[in-house]
Amino acid sequence: MKRETTPVLTNDLTFQEYMDQRKLTIDKHLDHCLPPLHTPPEIIHQAMRYSVFPGGKRIRPILALTTGEAVGGDFQKLISLAAALEMIHTYSLIHDDLPAMDDDDYRRGQPSTHKKFGEAIALLAGNGLLIRAFQLLAELPAQAAEKESKVAVLDQICRAIGTTQGMLAGQVMDLVKKGKPFSAQQLEQIHSAKTGALIEASVCCAAFLSGASEEACKKLGTFGRRIGLAFQIVDDILDSSQASSKPPATYPAMYGFEASRKMAIELVEKALQDIEFLGSRGETLTELARYISVRRI
Ligand code: IPE
Ligand code: IPE
Ligand code: MG
Repeated sequence: MKRETTPVLTNDLTFQEYMDQRKLTIDKHLDHCLPPLHTPPEIIHQAMRYSVFPGGKRIRPILALTTGEAVGGDFQKLISLAAALEMIHTYSLIHDDLPAMDDDDYRRGQPSTHKKFGEAIALLAGNGLLIRAFQLLAELPAQAAEKESKVAVLDQICRAIGTTQGMLAGQVMDLVKKGKPFSAQQLEQIHSAKTGALIEASVCCAAFLSGASEEACKKLGTFGRRIGLAFQIVDDILDSSQASSKPPATYPAMYGFEASRKMAIELVEKALQDIEFLGSRGETLTELARYISVRRI
């Protein structure tokens, strides 16, 4: 990547060190992009920052940076995309935890945003993060000739989080199906929309902004779709071992733990075939995909 400011994965850097470095880079940019803590009205900026920091795994922004790195993208554009993706993801978590949704008191090792700031501020902080994310995308550094790709990225992200095939569609289907029977096909549809679509968009938008060919974008899109579904399957496996108010539309509920874990591993192995064309440039992306199927947090 051009103008990279942190080391990329080399033989000198373990996968964990790579992830830690990436998280640092992403957090620095998030800090730079969010309104400072004492900007009035202070309470919402406190709630936005509380929800974003110290944060979670940063999988979506790391996927965007790693994909961009594999196809030779521009760091300045990719880091803005990365920050926007993490803000959108954090907005979804704040709203997902609200009493009207999953009613979860803890998130990322601390009281959830509504527990700390109350429901009204939590709602607004989620909205604030979503708006700031789109502003970042609108401000993506671009020459006039690249305006088209910026609009395409905005369009893809809107679809990934929207109400027809995206995250909101998945959340609604999840709510509607609560306590009711569902088919294997519906389960895959819920997972792919709820979580898969934003992960897929993280990969696709990074490839697109990096000027990857149409064919490469298509293959990376399929890769993203598969690892996105695997990510939610593993999330359900990990959540099932904890007390949770999660609705029962989960892979372990339908197939059992062993079969679900196997499905996640198989999805990732298939996804790796999609990125074989990257050759050695795809090594870090391969490690990241494998991490998704075997992660323990
Ligand atoms: C949790 O996502 C919710 C899902 C969409 C599965 P993550 O597991 O990526 O959460 P953080 O960002 O690491 O906290
Ligand atoms: C959260 O899904 C998905 C979104 C926020 C879109 P879950 O409800 O399955 O994830 P956790 O268990 O709250 O992290
Ligand atoms: Mg939840």
